[in-house]
Amino acid sequence: MSAAIGRPRSVDFDVARIRRDFPILNEQVNGKPLVYLDSAASSQRPRAVIEAIDNYYEHDHANVHRGVHTLSQRATDAYEGARETVRGFINARSTREIIYVRGTTEAINLVAQSYARPLLQPGDEILISALEHHANIVPWQIVCGQTGAQLKVIPISQTGEVDFAAFERLIGPRTRLLALAHISNALGTIVPVERFIARAKELKIPVLLDGAQAVPHSIVDVQALDCDFYCFSAHKMVGPTGIGVLYGRESLLEAMPPWQGGGDMILSVTFEKTTYNQLPWKFEAGTPDIAGAIGMAAGIRYLQGIGMERIAAYEHELLEYATARLSAIPGLRIIGTSPHKAAVVSFTMAGIHPHDIGTILDTEGVAVRTGHHCAMPVMDFFKVPATARASLSFYNTFEEIDRLVAALEHARKLLG
Ligand code: ALA
Repeated sequence: MSAAIGRPRSVDFDVARIRRDFPILNEQVNGKPLVYLDSAASSQRPRAVIEAIDNYYEHDHANVHRGVHTLSQRATDAYEGARETVRGFINARSTREIIYVRGTTEAINLVAQSYARPLLQPGDEILISALEHHANIVPWQIVCGQTGAQLKVIPISQTGEVDFAAFERLIGPRTRLLALAHISNALGTIVPVERFIARAKELKIPVLLDGAQAVPHSIVDVQALDCDFYCFSAHKMVGPTGIGVLYGRESLLEAMPPWQGGGDMILSVTFEKTTYNQLPWKFEAGTPDIAGAIGMAAGIRYLQGIGMERIAAYEHELLEYATARLSAIPGLRIIGTSPHKAAVVSFTMAGIHPHDIGTILDTEGVAVRTGHHCAMPVMDFFKVPATARASLSFYNTFEEIDRLVAALEHARKLLG
């Protein structure tokens, strides 16, 4: 390791103990111990989550809300108990505000179709920023196409920060919704959403936050944020794939029509008229991902057991160390240099295509994501076709960052 770049060690964090909870971290990849640096795409799961799901299938599985028999009651209790765990985690006022969905993407699509579509008139505006993930761009393009509304985009700076002055110019009487990432998946920028929300609230404009990258790495309190919708996915926060959450302010959810029709979202059906279920089930058509909800709650309890503040502090130290070490590699350019970042380092290397970086790192057992990170406008803005992205989690170590750096040096010697 470079003698000049020391490892910060102010946070008391027993990462060795934590790593023992994650069986997959013992994998060998191409004959080398796995270094998993792709948690922004999908985190790994601790044994507590895997066991919660197994235990549910081994002992409690039946359909929910549908039977008086014991297993159906147990499944329902676990499924609804998980909703209360989610509620507490993000400090929603009520479980009526917690809608289970497949993930962040589905949550945003639900809001676009059920909240925005009935409201939008030709010439109305949806405001997003230039650092959004495609999931917070395309649903708005679709609903704009359906209604004649327009998509307005707040520009970003060369450091990857959302331009507040431009936002103030863009938000206005035709803005019907502000939809922002809380943390950028491609750049790591922590967007100071509180400022943006405060201004939107002055104008009585509702705000949706894409929290997919924020919930795993920081304390999220939807009441303190005063946002109207907050969307996230379990699989980025040590939970299972295929489930996520739409938080919505109850008064807005009450007024919204159901998005999909079918079982669970109804109270009564005749051929003449259907009466919809109350919140939150009004938005949960069909047999839900029961095991997913239970696994997500186990993941939340696991994170709470460590403490989100400690997780954020340790990840910040990892980020500072990774940034310093990667910056010292000749020809390496970090894309996304905001002073306020979560543990994501996107970069390019002179003379080496990001996909080749990814392939060489893989031969060394190091997993990073390469590509456009579902944020093609961000790549266009920085005039790069793609980046390599190392995304860190609380189960990563300083030694793993050293392994990344050594593998990058190897790549540079081979191809740079
Ligand atoms: N949105 C995920 C990522 O950033 C898939 O990799």
